[in-house]
Amino acid sequence: MLTGRRILLIIGGGIAAYKALELIRRLRDAGAAVTPVLTRAGAEFVTPLSVSALAGVRVYSDLFDLTDEAEMGHIELSRAADLVVVAPATADLMAKMAQGHADDLASTLLMATDKRVLIAPAMNVRMWEHPATRRNLATLSGDGVLSVGPNEGGMACGEFGTGRMAEVPEIVGAIEAALRRGPLAGRHVIVTSGPTHEPIDPVRYIANRSSGAQGAAVAAALRDLGARVSFVTGPAAVPPPPGVEVVRVETAREMLAAVEAALPADAVVCAAAVADWRVANAGAQKMKKDKGGAPALAFAENPDILAHVSGLAEGRPGLVVGFAAETQDVVANAEAKRARKGCDWIVANDVSAATGIMGGTENAVTLVTAGGAEEWPRLPKAEVARRLARRIAQALAPAGEAGA
Ligand code: C5P
Repeated sequence: MLTGRRILLIIGGGIAAYKALELIRRLRDAGAAVTPVLTRAGAEFVTPLSVSALAGVRVYSDLFDLTDEAEMGHIELSRAADLVVVAPATADLMAKMAQGHADDLASTLLMATDKRVLIAPAMNVRMWEHPATRRNLATLSGDGVLSVGPNEGGMACGEFGTGRMAEVPEIVGAIEAALRRGPLAGRHVIVTSGPTHEPIDPVRYIANRSSGAQGAAVAAALRDLGARVSFVTGPAAVPPPPGVEVVRVETAREMLAAVEAALPADAVVCAAAVADWRVANAGAQKMKKDKGGAPALAFAENPDILAHVSGLAEGRPGLVVGFAAETQDVVANAEAKRARKGCDWIVANDVSAATGIMGGTENAVTLVTAGGAEEWPRLPKAEVARRLARRIAQALAPAGEAGA
């Protein structure tokens, strides 16, 4: 999968550095050549000897090592790779990257490179949640830096939460995705997926039924064609695919904010089953049964993300795609929805109980565009996603390449 690809791997100083050793092995198994760079702090966790033994080449660590400069200068080192990977990316390394520091070999390479950079953050949960790290991550993502993880779980420091470095197969998946060449290479697509949860009180919520399967499949298919995918997902049953930039949200308003933060994009695919209403009088405390009588919930309308993105006067993505789940008059309703929301395409499907589509593995859709309605055969959701991704690639292709 990675045959002949060259990875510059920067190993930061965190306990997760031990996973970088396994990462080197897996990347080499997949055919990649790995040039390792060990930061001073990284060398406190793994030895240069283990790193170079596994990589099969020398490890670089010192900016002012004259032998390094004679053999290969730092500028050349930063360019002689197809992808720069930082694993683990510590809070400190992320801060340096976000600020543009260049005071050691790793940070200088990151400043000098003309290649894409993928970070696998790893740190204590508090450090991950710290506003400074949130800001740095937003800056890096705005600079086009890709990221994978971190995951939730127990940490070496004994705490529990988000901050564990992504597992090696996930990082390999993200590297493969970043290096994939395809018709959508260089394109950015935002995909919304899953349901939203609208709180009634701290323990209850209202939601639509949605496994998030179709949205995840669309994101994976776009990734496979080389797109950079921002995957904005509500609490879905199906996990996000590797190799996409995941933004987890709960409510419709959070989903809208995440989509706005991920813009600009070449295309947006709204596959989420957004709750149309939220509870306007949601309780700050758990509502008690013993108060007598059922609570009277008041509802407020949620923002329509699809309509909002479609209506952007400035920075509207070139292609905006919505989904429509209908139980009758599928095409007529989808055409009306396309006009009402102002989007370019609607992927309409019949979710009436008799079709067995809801929660199933297959989907039968009709693609409604300005050119009319096109009925697709009943296909696995992954195949529907691949067809849709190919159509998106055609639509975004420069004139003359359409249909290629
Ligand atoms: O109006 P309806 O919910 O049927 O429209 C479905 C389409 O609109 C889907 O693409 C869905 O993701 C999007 N939508 C949205 N924000 C909402 C409601 C729906 O983006 N609040």
